[in-house]
Amino acid sequence: MSENENSITERLIASAGIAKGMRVLDIGCGNGVVSFLLLEAVGPEGEVIGIDINGSALEMAKHRAQSSNVSNVKFCVADISAHLPELGVFDAAFGRRVLMYLQDPVSALKNISSNVKSGGVVAFQESDSTITPARITSLPLHEKVNQWIWRTVEREGGNLHMGFELPTVLTESGFIVENVKAEAIIQGQKLHYPFSTVVRAILPRIVEQGIATEAEIDIDTLEQRLKEERPKSCVFISDLAFSVLARKP
Ligand SMILES: C[S@@+](CC[C@H](N)C(=O)[O-])C[C@H]1O[C@@H](n2cnc3c(N)ncnc32)[C@H](O)[C@@H]1O
Repeated sequence: MSENENSITERLIASAGIAKGMRVLDIGCGNGVVSFLLLEAVGPEGEVIGIDINGSALEMAKHRAQSSNVSNVKFCVADISAHLPELGVFDAAFGRRVLMYLQDPVSALKNISSNVKSGGVVAFQESDSTITPARITSLPLHEKVNQWIWRTVEREGGNLHMGFELPTVLTESGFIVENVKAEAIIQGQKLHYPFSTVVRAILPRIVEQGIATEAEIDIDTLEQRLKEERPKSCVFISDLAFSVLARKP
């Protein structure tokens, strides 16, 4: 995950008013990167609960919590398609790149609504490939790598248009949408997004989905090949990160 995407997340956390002492739910927390950003916002007097269906991703999150010696961030295996009354009620719920993986995000959000206090905030950051890649200069390898990532997510059932759909999904789930925005994830000579790190992380999935072969990807030389392709002044938008801020009535 790039600094770029984490900075977008930090700004969304701040604009959602997530602050010291709050109890916050991180939906689809994965390895806990967002949970720890939330933890900084709520401080030692607050609490963050991260939930995910993937137990092995949660192990990394739990390990980080143990090694940082913090007890006010907890991680539990849970499917947000189900009612989760055992989690209790939260001041705010947050999620990054999770709604795009759900078959029925509206019904999941209706479930989550019962875990959010009246007037509480829900905030989501979701990717969208509808108008990307966007560029002036042709960058064939960048375009190819971008396609490997997006096509894999699509074959796995991901919704590549969740960003544009966010306001509708939140409204249909009974929340009042207060703010929507989209920020560009840029690859450039200095604005460097670690494409090859992402590809390395999902390489088995790219191959399994039949999107590209290991030989074609050639992961050990990929970063260098991308660097060589980028001209001095280049701006390549690989993703739009949509953020939505909504409130439970
Ligand atoms: C792309 S990852 C994002 C992880 C984390 N939010 C982040 O931004 O670093 C999507 C996560 O959503 C989780 N997920 C997908 N469907 C879910 C569900 N029904 N309930 C809970 N988590 C789910 C996946 O297991 C995965 O960890």
